[in-house]
Amino acid sequence: MGQPPDPLRLISAWALTLLPAALGLAVLLWATGPAADPAPSPGPGLVDLGRRLFFDPNLSRNRTQSCATCHDPGAGFADPRGKGALAAVSLGDDGRSLGDRNAPTAGYAALTPGFHRTEEGKYVGGQFLDGREPDLAGQAGGPPLNPLEMGMPDKAAVVARLREDPGYVQAFEGLFGPGVWGDAEGAYRAMTQAIAAFEGTGFFAPFDSKYDRALRGEYRMTEQEELGQTLFFSTQFTNCHLCHQLHKVPGSPGETFSNYEHHNIGVPANTAVRALNGQPPGHLDLGLAGNPAVQAAADAQAQRGRFKTPTLRNVAVTGPYMHNGVFKDLRTLVLFYNQYNSKAPARRIDPETGAPWAPPEVPENLSLKELETGPALDDRRIDALVAFLKTLTDRRYEHLLTGPNAGKAG
Ligand code: HEC
Ligand code: HEC
Repeated sequence: MGQPPDPLRLISAWALTLLPAALGLAVLLWATGPAADPAPSPGPGLVDLGRRLFFDPNLSRNRTQSCATCHDPGAGFADPRGKGALAAVSLGDDGRSLGDRNAPTAGYAALTPGFHRTEEGKYVGGQFLDGREPDLAGQAGGPPLNPLEMGMPDKAAVVARLREDPGYVQAFEGLFGPGVWGDAEGAYRAMTQAIAAFEGTGFFAPFDSKYDRALRGEYRMTEQEELGQTLFFSTQFTNCHLCHQLHKVPGSPGETFSNYEHHNIGVPANTAVRALNGQPPGHLDLGLAGNPAVQAAADAQAQRGRFKTPTLRNVAVTGPYMHNGVFKDLRTLVLFYNQYNSKAPARRIDPETGAPWAPPEVPENLSLKELETGPALDDRRIDALVAFLKTLTDRRYEHLLTGPNAGKAG
């Protein structure tokens, strides 16, 4: 009689029994951040100094751009500026220069492990999409001197800007000693440490999305969201967990939705951006293979086209997607993955262009073993996955889900 139990349901029930155990710890770990007020508030601590620096446009040549310009705490710590192709990459402080990569969220970035290689030879972690900076302090030193971003000529010039401000002079000397201005190198490093300290606070990683609240029993997922969650973590119906799950057990505290491995998933070039940013035709973003720590390795060729697997936290409000912002809509992205497993003619079409999926920018080294795991997804499952991805939105951004980045209703 009756139907055999729905395997999805079973997995769901199993996962749910593990969730309550996760709660307490998650709260303990993440309730320690500062209050949600991002306004610079002068104060003696390293974090306060970092907060001021993060929001300070004086770190850019024309004083128009701070870290927060491209990592806006009001927009999931990504860059909300720009329309169309201009939304895919950031405009620099000179008002002209366009990068070639989409600004990723700085949210939850403190949880990215340092760049390293595993025993099996896999590259993991690091800051930037190719992992080229080992940690947040190293990362924070990049943008002020990047000619396409904040455009300062050198470290000494940045340090001179800091010294214009008596508040900084006092804070730097208080924290790093009166000798801090002695060499520009040291003062610059102190600045990056303060920014990294601020980025390491709970303000950047509140863990208070519907997903987290459901773990704590404070939110009840809709049926669609729950189906999406089950599919996402399932080892049978999708492959997402192979790259976007940090901890072995679904529902573990501190889940960031990335194992930080670097993969080539076949993302096409963003030709609309390339037409605007002056990259020569035929330019390839080689991703991990461009990381100086990898270039010397014997198997550097095998790293071409790989990018760090990003966190999926706040993904519904930080579009467009992929390292080059080539996809606008979350649903497109799920369909993009589905092309690896569906042979249906209608699934060969990119809904954003109306044409067949464009070929990968770098055709070698595709992670096909992972991407071809699992069956084709029907519309119901695709929509459920999108609905689940939206539950990863921190409470602060839930109001944005009805905005232009909300994608299809879920
Ligand atoms: C003009 C826009 C812009 C500005 C200004 C900017 N960033 Fe970024 N940020 C980007 C882009 C684009 C990337 C990705 C670049 C890459 O991977 O090569 C990035 C990457 C990052 C990352 C790495 C995230 C990850 O998951 O790998 C962090 C953290 C970050 N920025 C923090 C900062 C800080 C701190 C500042 C200020 C000192 C800053 N950014 C200024 C655009 C910007
Ligand atoms: C082989 C590893 C792998 C698998 C499997 C995988 N992903 Fe990804 N995912 C990545 C990588 C790597 C990127 C970044 C690619 C880039 O920027 O070029 C990414 C990007 C994304 C993004 C865009 C994030 C952003 O901020 O731009 C989303 C959303 C996403 N994946 C969801 C999923 C879902 C849902 C599944 C399962 C259907 C899945 N991924 C399966 C590795 C994987």
